[in-house]
Formats: sequence, structure tokens, C-alpha cells
Amino acid sequence: MMIATQHVTMRLEAGGETVTILDDITLDIPEKQTVAIVGPSGSGKSTLLGLIAGLDRPTSGTIWLNGREITQLNEKTMARLRLANVGYIFQSFHLIPTLTALENVSIPLELAGDRHARQRAIELLEAVGLRHRVSHYPVQLSGGEQQRVAVARAFACRPPILLADEPTGNLDSHTGQHVIQLIMALHRDAGTTLVLVTHDQQLAASMERVITLRDGRIGSDHLTALSYDESDDRL
Ligand SMILES: Nc1ncnc2c1ncn2[C@@H]1O[C@H](COP(=O)(O)OP(=O)(O)OP(=O)(O)O)[C@@H](O)[C@H]1O
Ligand SMILES: [Mg+2]
Repeated sequence: MMIATQHVTMRLEAGGETVTILDDITLDIPEKQTVAIVGPSGSGKSTLLGLIAGLDRPTSGTIWLNGREITQLNEKTMARLRLANVGYIFQSFHLIPTLTALENVSIPLELAGDRHARQRAIELLEAVGLRHRVSHYPVQLSGGEQQRVAVARAFACRPPILLADEPTGNLDSHTGQHVIQLIMALHRDAGTTLVLVTHDQQLAASMERVITLRDGRIGSDHLTALSYDESDDRL
């Protein structure tokens, strides 16, 4: 399995009370699968994605990424493992404002010790249609352009896993579609396992599997018609 969780529970203290945000989540996601996580606001989607990325630790339960158990790792080991395995796209882009588009994309490559970081970052920006924007800062880019930079950054180290939290949530539908097409093209080229949180039913239905969260539990988990379709022409 590329991603596995076993009995994952997340509890937080809020206002003197313990709130259960995720309750006994057990999941297996095989290599290359495309998965949508859907569910009402507050059902725990972002929390689950953050746990899978190792950005947070569950209260109990176990998580494996690419065969490695991550719940006991220290920060430094986790950061290294994340760099090698996980690309993460946030709803609100999360680019570093003081760095240009090129620098935002080349940073993970430099951290990974890639000697051709700059060249590869340029190629990635070209792939997302932003060759002419390499020296622009995030404030000089539109929302859609910023998200395309974020897509390029997430794929920079060719991660086997891509996690995307409402990647089109802040974009108009046309721009959103463009960003999704980019994500799907990169997924197909690299065989990336894709887990995408969305409120968009149509987008969810274009994944091979849809998992619905309700109040921190798995409400349903099913394969879509697409999972049986071998055609490469999914969007
Ligand atoms: N640090 C925190 N402390 C207390 N409660 C939190 C914290 N982070 C999240 N929560 C609560 O956990 C629940 C799940 O939050 P989460 O962000 O995972 O939901 P979501 O499904 O992503 O919602 P949305 O669709 O609105 O993004 C919410 O009720 C939220 O208020
Ligand atoms: Mg969320």
C-alpha cells in the first residue's frame, strides 16, 4: 500500500472539552490510485490529509507512507520522508511571499540536494504554462497562476504521493479545471498516488475512489465507474 492508516483517532482539547475530530479511520490506498475525500465542512477531511502528510500526529493509531510507519518518527526524519514522498497542495496556495515563482518551485529540489534544481524548476513552470512568470512574486500572480506554481512545487521532487486539499476551492471553475487537468496529467505521467479533498461532486466522480467522511468517521468508501476504465482519457 502507498498509504495505510489503522485505527487512526484524533482528539483535541477545545474550550476545556475533548473533541473527537477523527474516529477510528482505517484505510488502504494502493499505489497510483486516485481518491477523492468528500464530506461536510468540519467532518475532518483536512485533518486526515494533514495526518497522512505527517504534518500532525494522531492521538492514537498508526499511519504508513510508502511502507514506512510514520507516527513515531521525530520531526527531522519526518521532514526528510515527507520531502521524498509527499507533494502537498493547499486550498490557499501557501507560496512563500518573499520568493519568486522560480524560487518557490526550486526550494524543495534544493533541499533534496538536486544540482539541477533551477533548470528543473524552470521546466516545471513551463509544464504548468508559467515560463513567462518565473521571476514574478506571488502577489504579482493571479490566484490560478499561484495555484499552478503550487502544483509545480508539489510535483518538483516527483513524489509518489500527492495530497491536495481543495486545490480548486479558491479558483473560478475554468481556472480550477485547468489546475485539475495539470494535476491529472502529472499524475498520469508519474504514476502518482493522488488523494484530493473536494466539495465538487463532479471532480470527486472523476477519481477512481470516493471516501465520504461524516463526523470524523468513514461514512462510505466506494470505487467509481472510472476505476474499471482502463482508458487514459479521464478528463
Ligand atoms: N486545532 C484545532 N483545535 C480544535 N478543533 C479543531 C482544530 N482543528 C480543527 N478542529 C475541528 O476539527 C473539525 C474538523 O476540521 P477539518 O478542518 O478537518 O474539517 P474539514 O472537513 O476539512 O472542513 P472544511 O470542509 O470546512 O475544510 C472541525 O470541527 C474543526 O473545528
Ligand atoms: Mg478542510
